[in-house]
Amino acid sequence: MANVTIVGAAGYTGQETLDRVLAHPSLELYAVGSDSLAGRDATALDPRLNRNGGRRVPRFITNEAALSVDADITFVCLSHEEAAALEPRTGGVVVDLSGAHRLRDADLYATWYGFHHPHPESLAGWVYGLPELVEVHGRLIANPGCYATATLLALGPLRDHVEPTSVVVDAKSGMTGAGRTPRASTHAGFVLENLSPYKVGSHQHVPEIAQFLGFPITFTPHLLPVRRGLLATCYVQSTGADLRAVLEEHYAGSAVVTVLPDGVAPELGRVQGTDAAEIGVFQDRFTDRTIVICALDNLGKGAAGQAVQNVNRLFGFPDTAGLRLPGVLV
Ligand SMILES: NC(=O)c1ccc[n+]([C@@H]2O[C@H](COP(=O)([O-])OP(=O)(O)OC[C@H]3O[C@@H](n4cnc5c(N)ncnc54)[C@H](OP(=O)(O)O)[C@@H]3O)[C@@H](O)[C@H]2O)c1
Repeated sequence: MANVTIVGAAGYTGQETLDRVLAHPSLELYAVGSDSLAGRDATALDPRLNRNGGRRVPRFITNEAALSVDADITFVCLSHEEAAALEPRTGGVVVDLSGAHRLRDADLYATWYGFHHPHPESLAGWVYGLPELVEVHGRLIANPGCYATATLLALGPLRDHVEPTSVVVDAKSGMTGAGRTPRASTHAGFVLENLSPYKVGSHQHVPEIAQFLGFPITFTPHLLPVRRGLLATCYVQSTGADLRAVLEEHYAGSAVVTVLPDGVAPELGRVQGTDAAEIGVFQDRFTDRTIVICALDNLGKGAAGQAVQNVNRLFGFPDTAGLRLPGVLV
């Protein structure tokens, strides 16, 4: 068994991580941090926790205290700027779900995240944890962004087979992608019955996508009037390879990512609430472009599911331990 601390456990990704840790056969919850709930029982977060017969969740402590706990694994579910400030104090694995340690070039933080990185020298020590595309190793894991995960699952295996200047990505996410803090732009009165592009050409996941692919892309995110789920539609031009064949071969052994049969499109409804991802590949009849679509849950494979999957890889647990993978017709 490996013991776990979750810092920022009251937020969306923190709760989703907590849920997976409780379902994991080889992880034991050691401490949960939340500044707003410090000192209170876990039932203050959700009355379904600590039921008779269920696994116990300890009383909340502050995030600062949680960061000092000597756990085997610390999941950090804080804002980008809060996570950037932390200096890992224990010798255990740290999985940061924020964007604070994804970029190699510290100068990009001022441009894309709006703050100067306080520990630029530390960035080289973090591994970008996208287990289908990167061999995860070490003890400092930068968990990828939700949009970046969908885009890179679709395009990562194709990066040597597409015209770099041809890549355009149109993506849409449910409202939980923006976190729990209420804002006018995520207020139900604005979001429901609406579809709005935001951060057009300037979303903070663009540089991590470009960093992985090795070339820039055009990317437009949109806010969908649903609670969870994310879909990225990627338009690319092949340099000659059969892009479907490349993707099918790459994901042939994956229990998490499925390349759908020809003619079948990914759907939010099949991935919402899960840690799975679906990829569809289509050929445009009029142009020589290929359209690769990836659907996943922003809080699942786009956050907590991936964080736990990274830990599974690091500790040699089964890849899908603790994950929520879909059945059929649910
Ligand atoms: N949401 C996503 O789909 C997603 C996907 C991938 C990565 N991420 C990244 O993961 C990190 C955490 O994201 P998140 O979506 O989990 O953020 P969040 O829901 O805003 O939670 C972050 C922290 O904000 C505090 N908080 C803010 N509003 C709250 C409220 N109404 N009730 C309770 N707590 C509240 C909590 O801390 P205290 O209790 O300590 O005050 C919580 O730990 C961010 O860096 C984000 O970019 C998010």
